[in-house]
Amino acid sequence: MHKDFEKFCHRFQELTEKNENISVTLEKGIPIVQELISSDLWFRDFLKEALIERSWLKQQQPTLWPNELTLYRSPDQSFLVLAYIWEPFSADAIHDHGSWGIVASFINDIEEVKFRRQDDGTVAGYAELEETVTRVLKPGEITCVLPLNAGIHQMENLSGEIAVTLNVYGRTVRRGYLQYFDRERKAVKRVYPPRTYKQVLMVRTAGVMGSGEDILKGALVNPLPDYVKEEYEAAITVSKRRAP
Ligand SMILES: [Fe+2]
Repeated sequence: MHKDFEKFCHRFQELTEKNENISVTLEKGIPIVQELISSDLWFRDFLKEALIERSWLKQQQPTLWPNELTLYRSPDQSFLVLAYIWEPFSADAIHDHGSWGIVASFINDIEEVKFRRQDDGTVAGYAELEETVTRVLKPGEITCVLPLNAGIHQMENLSGEIAVTLNVYGRTVRRGYLQYFDRERKAVKRVYPPRTYKQVLMVRTAGVMGSGEDILKGALVNPLPDYVKEEYEAAITVSKRRAP
């Protein structure tokens, strides 16, 4: 690990251990991120190591975002450092987050659009969004996100070159999934990391098949996180509705 990155992780660990509220953590965390991205030598070192010593690549877990690199996980799970590599003219979906985040433009410009949710979230699958801020972040510039509905946004690389952002996320307040928003259809859906997604798709499929309820109830004896159990329960409801 490059000494600049090591120092960054150490300073961030000291900050999160103070357990201050989100706004203080963000306020104190921003200059620590700014200092790290004032030089790209540590990132060059990281790329060199990751590409030459292939072990780094093998350790990467499949995550929800294929363009995501996990650079560091704090041992106490109080923060996570990621880099996102944005292909030319690529954008992510409008999404929320399970934690606070500090997002820094690192290599080339990236655009961010923030949204405010206008409905009260009580109708499953329904969401109305209003655009609030659109901003192009130049390298070295930073934006922050808050957990859940307070941090809905979308990022886009408007240029014909690769862009990189450095993202630091705090302790997760909602584990297991994010939400994607479709503004035109006024819709919201959960999105899961690849392995969970396969499981959820099978659960939903069992819900629309004959005798699906038996399969689902049988599988529910396994220990499952609450957000997966909710998928089982929704599929059982579908299955009951379809039963002759
Ligand atoms: Fe995001």
